[in-house]
Amino acid sequence: MSDRRNTGRTLEALRARIRAADDQYYNRGHSDWTDAEYDGWFAELRQLEAEHPELVTADSPTQRVGAPLPKGGTLATIEHIAPMGSLESLHTADEVREFDKRARKLLGQPEEPLIWSCEPKLDGTSANLVYEHGKLVRGMSRGDGARGEDMTQNLRTIRNLPLELAGKGPFPTRIEIRGEVIMSRAAFRRLQEREETSAEGTFRNARNTVAGTLKLLDPRIVQRRALDFIAFGVGHVEGSEFRTHTELRERLAAWGFTIAEPSATASSIDEVIAFRDGLEGERDDMTYELDGIVAKVDDIALQQQLGRTARTPRWALAYKFAPRLATTRIVAIGAQVGRTGQVTPVAQFEPTELAGVTVRNASLHNWALLAERDLRVGDFVEIQRAGDVIPEVVRVFTEHRGDDSVPVEPPSRCPVCGGELHVDGKFVYCGDLDCKAQLAGRIVHLASRRAMDIEGLGPKQVEQLIDSGIVKSLEDVFTLSARQAELLELERWGERSTQNLLDNLERSKHPTLARFLNGIGIRHVGEQTAKDLARNFGSLERLRDAAPEQLMAVDGVGEEVQRAVTEFFASPKNAATLAALAAAGVAPEESAPTAGPLDGRVFVFTGGLTTMSRDDAKAKVESLGARTANGISKKVTDVVAGEDAGSKLEKAEKLGLRILDEAAFAALLEAL
Ligand code: IVH
Repeated sequence: MSDRRNTGRTLEALRARIRAADDQYYNRGHSDWTDAEYDGWFAELRQLEAEHPELVTADSPTQRVGAPLPKGGTLATIEHIAPMGSLESLHTADEVREFDKRARKLLGQPEEPLIWSCEPKLDGTSANLVYEHGKLVRGMSRGDGARGEDMTQNLRTIRNLPLELAGKGPFPTRIEIRGEVIMSRAAFRRLQEREETSAEGTFRNARNTVAGTLKLLDPRIVQRRALDFIAFGVGHVEGSEFRTHTELRERLAAWGFTIAEPSATASSIDEVIAFRDGLEGERDDMTYELDGIVAKVDDIALQQQLGRTARTPRWALAYKFAPRLATTRIVAIGAQVGRTGQVTPVAQFEPTELAGVTVRNASLHNWALLAERDLRVGDFVEIQRAGDVIPEVVRVFTEHRGDDSVPVEPPSRCPVCGGELHVDGKFVYCGDLDCKAQLAGRIVHLASRRAMDIEGLGPKQVEQLIDSGIVKSLEDVFTLSARQAELLELERWGERSTQNLLDNLERSKHPTLARFLNGIGIRHVGEQTAKDLARNFGSLERLRDAAPEQLMAVDGVGEEVQRAVTEFFASPKNAATLAALAAAGVAPEESAPTAGPLDGRVFVFTGGLTTMSRDDAKAKVESLGARTANGISKKVTDVVAGEDAGSKLEKAEKLGLRILDEAAFAALLEAL
């Protein structure tokens, strides 16, 4: 018992330390600890909680991420306790003075200035969080103001959002905290670099990305997007009182919320205007996007006296920044090849000043969009720049178009390597292995752990190899042993690490066909499809020679994959690269194409196995023709339940799937 109490104390201490570090990092903008220390505590907490599942609490920092909602599911809607309004948007100083004058008049103090609390207007998506006795119980979107969507699972993943209010309390019995969910510029840039496109196309700007992200059904993806929550007010409150907005902000901060900064208390409307003008000059230096300021009458009794119109309060206003729009002309529409081979249209403009920056070009995202908007060379367009994000075309003035304008067609040849381009839905891509625009990305992917697994060949090394001119093609990677002297001249390439890399490269030359196919980066062929193709065809040659209908016959291969595979092998340049790789000694293992004794069966492993690792067990059944899945669905045929199997087992039982314990699984393998 006392052991358990000690563990409980250690757990709480770890949690407190992690929460304090989060608070310091997010709310005070500095950190007394290194990332490694932080990660260490997190790992220790995770480990202890795994050993003592009965001591896991809902507010533990490890519990931010819940399980995904089933595919095709929807978010429930819930009524807000107090409705969520919006703000009157004002665009000129005169409008702001007018708003202030009306408020003073309504309060019966036309000559006496009001005190305004000013803060940035954040450009994201608003959210409403309900806390009961200091604990987060629910989080939702604004919705139509009366009802919002239940986004509790997604909002919980936001690291600067307290799952439990900080401090000693007493806490309000029930309180609605209102704020904006935003994505910092840095997080948005990282996301753009990581995933050039989303299912819906390119991530256009941080605001749309936040809104889309909060609607995702898988909280694990939400967590990776690194959103922040900035509190700016309250809705319904039980068991607490605030005299002024300034006091409310202080309390929000003490409870562990990040609040909108910089802020100011203005003792006249002129100071409100000055605050807005000052912040407009600094907007590019802010860590996140702002679109103006919000000024609120500081005294809450006066707020109540002023009340609201149908939609907006009479005690708060939004004073927007000048939009960053300009008109220019498209002089050319070119094509740009991304790291993954995606070819995107780029408009070149007559150079134009836009909020202090000369804009010369902008991405037009994809060719389908270009056709849809009917943009043509010579067109006059309105362009917009939001923060340091790449400018966008927001409008085309088709009425000023000359008779001679012609729509632009996507190119048929890659502007970088000259290879044939392929259409894939909205996108156009170059799938050639020798395309220089994709070289670094292709090598990094080929070397990655789940592909050819070449240790010591990460993005940094690849960049050095390409920049120095040592590697000019994919196949060059496998003849590096002949260039040892040059390698040793590279910065930070020591004798030992260079030799290790060369050894690893040599060892990597006989991967399984599945790993090779995954690594070579055929569009739409990921790890699972690579396995399916490898099992069914057994060798690269047989796969290359497969007819479309043979490809389509493979479980898990649809038209998209079939087309991508056929196009990949049809490219003479790819044939040359594959031959060059073979000449350099890269020879994926071959096997007879197998139907396999477990063909047609789909396995899910859950819980811990004692006699082999889960990866080994998966590899084993896959080598026998089965497929594996992570989640339970009707497609699954067998569930292997090891120790402490949890919800997946329950679900499998409900669906009446075949369930094997470890002994039964071993017996099955034995019998084959
Ligand atoms: S106060 C009655 N403060 O702007 C509404 N709103 O059009 C009181 N917003 O829906 C809102 N920053 O999502 C307030 N510092 C701030 C804000 C802010 C952004 C958003 C909020 C609201 C919209 C108003």
